[in-house]
Amino acid sequence: MKMQTQNRKTEHLKIACSENVQFREKTTGLEKIGFKGIDLEYKTLPEINKKEISLQAEFLGKKFSAPIIVEAITGGTEEARQINRDIAGACEELGIGMGLGSMRAMIENPALKETYFVRDIAPKIFLAGNIGAAQLLQYPIEKIEKAIEEIKADALAIHLNAAQEALQKEGDTNFKGVLNAIEKISAKLSKPVYVKEVGHGIGFSVAKKLAKTKIKAIDVAGAGGTSWTGIDSLRGNKELGETFWDYGIATAESIVQCRKAFKKKIIASGGIRTGLDIAKAIALGADMAGIALPVLKAQQEAGKEGVKKYLEKIIEELRIAMFLSGAKSLKELKKVKITKSR
Ligand SMILES: Cc1cc2nc3c(=O)[nH]c(=O)nc-3n(C[C@H](O)[C@H](O)[C@H](O)COP(=O)(O)O)c2cc1C
Repeated sequence: MKMQTQNRKTEHLKIACSENVQFREKTTGLEKIGFKGIDLEYKTLPEINKKEISLQAEFLGKKFSAPIIVEAITGGTEEARQINRDIAGACEELGIGMGLGSMRAMIENPALKETYFVRDIAPKIFLAGNIGAAQLLQYPIEKIEKAIEEIKADALAIHLNAAQEALQKEGDTNFKGVLNAIEKISAKLSKPVYVKEVGHGIGFSVAKKLAKTKIKAIDVAGAGGTSWTGIDSLRGNKELGETFWDYGIATAESIVQCRKAFKKKIIASGGIRTGLDIAKAIALGADMAGIALPVLKAQQEAGKEGVKKYLEKIIEELRIAMFLSGAKSLKELKKVKITKSR
């Protein structure tokens, strides 16, 4: 079991970095392709000074210099150690947040816990620990609390990955009782809890159920970016994988549906690839945005500096998008009009 978790993590990283694992036909809905998609209203007369724009955000008690979280990617393998440290170092310098990969590997094998340690180089950032829905049913809350303490995280992200598990040969497909487990842990854990998907989206009815628990945020991780049914199909379930490769709720749709049902914080993620995507997601109702795969690729290419350079570009794009919308702050960006692309 222990080795299975570790080997799976290694295979996931390898496939994510070497194959085309993004959605094929389905898009996030944030882009503008032909007649499809949305735009922010272009304020030809912005009447603001670009230099005075503030990207400052607050999420679960921490301040961010831009509303961005590098999404959960890894932990529990040798290569994970360096990936986490490069990402954490870049996030600390930029003043943005980071999610660590599932803590399952370190809970199963405590010898691996150091591969998640980043607090020495990233003392100030918002840092989230991570656990899967299936593991929530298996571990007592105390075990998860201990793991969160060990990695010195500010919050726990629970990933709901039914689509991924269904396409995994050894997948855990017993999701009976997960909502109840979320209810319990969100009431008991000493740190805030939030719920995320892994790239197939969260819709209205689920967000409504989650709104009745004590979770503090939803990270939509919608369809249009990395396809986890795709990655796990490439690991050995090719025929079924083809059918479900593009499965899920597109990111833009997921933001809108979750916003209707859930009044607390929303992270937009799943295919966020530019700062303009972030601006549109915030105007649609999100508070923050998350990115995973391109950050991993930037790290693989050029380590910490690669991650930093990539994220600096995203931040500058967001600033430009805000300037062109006449929004001096994220609060003002939320009010910018969304128009249908032509
Ligand atoms: C290599 C890799 C590993 C991931 N591992 C996890 C994980 O352990 N826990 C989790 O909640 N999400 C995990 N994710 C999902 C991401 O956090 C994110 O929700 C998803 O990839 C969508 O974002 P993207 O389109 O920007 O990649 C992983 C993503 C990648 C690319």
